[in-house]
Amino acid sequence: MVAMPRLPEGFAWGVATSAFQIEGAPDEDGRGPSVWDAFVDTPGKIRDGHTARTACDHYRRYPEDVALMKDLGVDYYRFSVSWPRVQPTGTGPANAPGLDFYERLVDALLEAGVKPMATLYHWDLPLALEDDADGPGGWLDRDTAHRFAEYARLVAERLGDRVDHWITLNEPFEHMALGYALGEHAPGRTLLLDALPAAHHQLLGHGLATAALRAAGAGHVMLTNSYTPAVPFSGNESDLAAASAYDALHRGVFTDPVLLGRYPDLSAYGLGDTAADPSALPFVKDGDLAAIAQPLDGLGVNYYNPTRLAAPAPETVFPFDIAEFDHAPTTDFDWPVIPSGLTQTLVDLTRDYGEALPPLWVTENGCSYDVAPGPDGAIDDHQRIDFLDAHVRALADALDQGADVRGYLVWSLLDNFEWAEGRHQKFGLVDVDEQTQDRTPKASYHWYRSLIADQA
Ligand code: NOJ
Repeated sequence: MVAMPRLPEGFAWGVATSAFQIEGAPDEDGRGPSVWDAFVDTPGKIRDGHTARTACDHYRRYPEDVALMKDLGVDYYRFSVSWPRVQPTGTGPANAPGLDFYERLVDALLEAGVKPMATLYHWDLPLALEDDADGPGGWLDRDTAHRFAEYARLVAERLGDRVDHWITLNEPFEHMALGYALGEHAPGRTLLLDALPAAHHQLLGHGLATAALRAAGAGHVMLTNSYTPAVPFSGNESDLAAASAYDALHRGVFTDPVLLGRYPDLSAYGLGDTAADPSALPFVKDGDLAAIAQPLDGLGVNYYNPTRLAAPAPETVFPFDIAEFDHAPTTDFDWPVIPSGLTQTLVDLTRDYGEALPPLWVTENGCSYDVAPGPDGAIDDHQRIDFLDAHVRALADALDQGADVRGYLVWSLLDNFEWAEGRHQKFGLVDVDEQTQDRTPKASYHWYRSLIADQA
């Protein structure tokens, strides 16, 4: 095997998780319900009726998880703060015991020599904001952006002296698409294109929260988006148009306002040239774009696979159809394994946003493979090793092509609650026994540990 290229001095390695997917303890220390608690309790929403009530019991077992990270040798741990632990109803004063938990976690990380990277929002909106009788609810409500900034301030005031790296939102595209357009995630709305205000209000929340973090003295602030190269099905004009329409929605809507202070052209969606005329989007108010386009210290890139787009069938709501790749191997999630898509993502961002682009961080990359333990109990997830190895090499290729990438974080430290898939998709470097909660590092954990040590 060809030796792994040496990444630049100071390149950061890490692992990522999110609160709802690992913590459990939904009723502990005054936590309020989130939209995800309600969604999980709705029959038929989660595969095989799995729940997240215990998840990985990380709320109690965090010292063990921090010890695993210390042993792994990572520089950063990206976790998310649960808004309903901090503000059980999404408004009002901080619930001190909720913040105490994150303080204990952060202190344990620092003690272990692992730097905390805190995401403020990874989809677990306080349920009270969704059920708000005075408006459309959740992120359809402009006021949620202001509530989010207030929550950001409360967290930064408590943790800002110890947490240097902050991420406002995780994957606002997926949250809008799966949660508000297609109904596959909480809050389960099926608004199709009418979900767009949920994009804008998240972006506004990002901008206002960034300002609140700065005011509280936060050092390094990022937004994390999911990125996927939009690959046309063929060279036909109609397939090319489908790919460019998809890219405008997936990448453009969530990147252009933040880095360029404008929306992309959404005329493919019948919305007019929204780049030239933001008033084509009635939910965009005066001053919003300036509030959104805060200078950032980094842009978080979550990469899993490219997306292949074809011209839509007649009568389709969206101006694209999603097609399959021919001959690509797939993970247990049926996602195609195409490492060059990571190179392309990073290089395209670098080319297309130029000077406006802050340094990039791969804040998530990983794969779902369910590998049973062998007779000796060892879990030989060599498929994950191959996947991660190929993606780190793809990242190195992007560096060679001029992309400024500062870090790489594996999703995920632990097998956890994979949203609508329940416990079915295993993304962890570490296996978690759902009955005993015992943690068993897999072969991929040992591989990642050696990689980090070799690069030191
Ligand atoms: C991205 C999301 O941020 C994370 O919550 C999820 O588990 C992974 N993708 C895998 O689907």
